[in-house]
Amino acid sequence: MSLFTNLYISFFPVSIIFLNSANAARFGVRNNCPYTVWAAAVPGGGRRLNQGEMWALDVPAGTTGGRIWARTGCQFNASGMGRCTTGDCWGLLQCQDYGTPPNTLAEFALSQFNNMDFIDLSLLDGFNVPMEFSSNSDRCNQVIRCTADIVGQCPDELKIDGGCNGACRVFFKDRCPDAYSYPRDDASSTFTCPGGTNYKVVFCP
Ligand SMILES: *[C@@H]1O[C@H](CO)[C@@H](O)[C@H](O)[C@H]1NC(C)=O
Repeated sequence: MSLFTNLYISFFPVSIIFLNSANAARFGVRNNCPYTVWAAAVPGGGRRLNQGEMWALDVPAGTTGGRIWARTGCQFNASGMGRCTTGDCWGLLQCQDYGTPPNTLAEFALSQFNNMDFIDLSLLDGFNVPMEFSSNSDRCNQVIRCTADIVGQCPDELKIDGGCNGACRVFFKDRCPDAYSYPRDDASSTFTCPGGTNYKVVFCP
């Protein structure tokens, strides 16, 4: 800990926030899609990402049930209220709760049992945008991808505007074997890294 940090802590009780953010994992969220997406994160909120743009998001250690996903076809007014065709979170630009399926999900729990992070890409809530979820660190080397054209190949009965509904385990598992496609699919699709690892999430990798 630096001298500056020590001074900071002794003079500012509010520095607990500073300490927590020092313990946070950084998620670099990048949009490589040839269209605009509105990235969403719980915890974290949301942001419009044009093609090629990145959002650096710090997530506190100890977070469970964390999710990052893409929203498409959004319109928001100056108060950050509106709606999206896929992934909408109660009409808010700054998501406070999970989105409406179908949406491809990067899921994580940070610094859990044995100080391990648990990460997966989930198709349990269906699919809207191809994603890659990877560790961005020397300490861990995990890359989870789901890049199949699931929307294009979606069976008619599962299709909705901009997405493909879940509930079809054979279809998804066949196309994205690394992704978590049905409840209890942990063996092939949940990955771990040491706590404190940073991550990258790419839409349309
Ligand atoms: C944005 O939309 C919401 C919900 O329709 C409305 O209550 C709010 O006044 C709007 N804000 C602006 C600045 O238009």
